[in-house]
Amino acid sequence: MVLFGGQKEVVGLDIGSHAIKLVELKHRGKSKELVSFGVQVLQPDAIVEGAIIDAMAVADGISTLVNTQSIKKKLVATSISGSAVIVKKITLPRVASQEELQESVRWEAEQYIPFPIEEVNLDYTILGKASKGEAIDVLLVAAKKDIVGFYSNAITQAGLKPVLMDIDAFAMQNAFEANYKELIDANEVIALLNFGASKININIIKGENSLFTRDIGIGGNAITEAVMRDFNISREGAESVKRGIPAEGVSPNMIQNSINQIMDEISKDIKRTFEFFRATAVEEEMSRIYICGGAAKTPGIRDFLGGKFGIYVDIMNPFKNVKNKMVDIEFVNEYGPAAAVAVGLAIRKVGEA
Ligand SMILES: Nc1ncnc2c1ncn2[C@@H]1O[C@H](COP(=O)(O)OP(=O)(O)OP(=O)(O)O)[C@@H](O)[C@H]1O
Ligand SMILES: [Mg+2]
Repeated sequence: MVLFGGQKEVVGLDIGSHAIKLVELKHRGKSKELVSFGVQVLQPDAIVEGAIIDAMAVADGISTLVNTQSIKKKLVATSISGSAVIVKKITLPRVASQEELQESVRWEAEQYIPFPIEEVNLDYTILGKASKGEAIDVLLVAAKKDIVGFYSNAITQAGLKPVLMDIDAFAMQNAFEANYKELIDANEVIALLNFGASKININIIKGENSLFTRDIGIGGNAITEAVMRDFNISREGAESVKRGIPAEGVSPNMIQNSINQIMDEISKDIKRTFEFFRATAVEEEMSRIYICGGAAKTPGIRDFLGGKFGIYVDIMNPFKNVKNKMVDIEFVNEYGPAAAVAVGLAIRKVGEA
């Protein structure tokens, strides 16, 4: 979804509730080279339920990344998700002109969007000819203007220029395609999960098409909070133990039960989403799951989800096909999965819809 439109190469900026991720790539023909990758952790109250509460803290976080990474580019691609975004596939009768299509998209959008139409930014992409009659399938994307405004203001305050507004689920898909294209069959149905702090973006794809997207309102925060509760330690302590560093008398091998309990809850939510997808696309059989996002690093996650869903599960490496001579490899390995959305944004060809 391009709400602003731009001309040149962009910096990918994923403003998450736990951390801001910045990625800059150099495009050389088809190959890509990593120029900068930075992560800036935010206080937990800076972004709550997708809304920027502490605009200053977010702008400061972006500025810090721009300075520490010596970013010269000004143009930024960013993305949002959660309840502020609605993605819906609709079928419309074929019409003669662009104006007529815009008119019917707007009219249809009014039926599907639970907010007044004046309060959303609306965009759409034509997916192709629908299976029946003289009709076309259109992907409708609506984002609440106030939420889009929070994010673009924070970027502007940090001295950058927001030129492209995307959806987390599509940016993740973009990163996946750039890195795994040669490994996937055009008819294979794959679930992509962006396991963040406060939510999980799910995008079920077949080849290069997104069949279904949904966001679940639970993520790594729930695991952090379970560890805080179970061991009576601080948030910082729990975050550290999750990363494998002992804190406040708690060592990483002590927390697997807390992790599993929350993962159990999360799996139920994912399962419900998969079942909902199956009900709408009966003939599609999912064959693999790829997980990204910071919480893709949760200990035991591959075996856990593999056991629950009985299919191949892997952690997505968004830098798999990206050359890297500039950024510390240990940092890239540690934070790689968290960068998926930012990578997907940084490789957006500017000008595409
Ligand atoms: N090594 C690790 N092991 C376990 N969990 C981790 C690790 N590294 C990060 N996390 C968790 O990942 C989450 C942050 O992931 P990410 O940066 O993708 O979230 P976000 O984009 O800021 O959040 P959201 O998109 O939900 O607003 C946090 O819950 C954090 O505790
Ligand atoms: Mg995120």
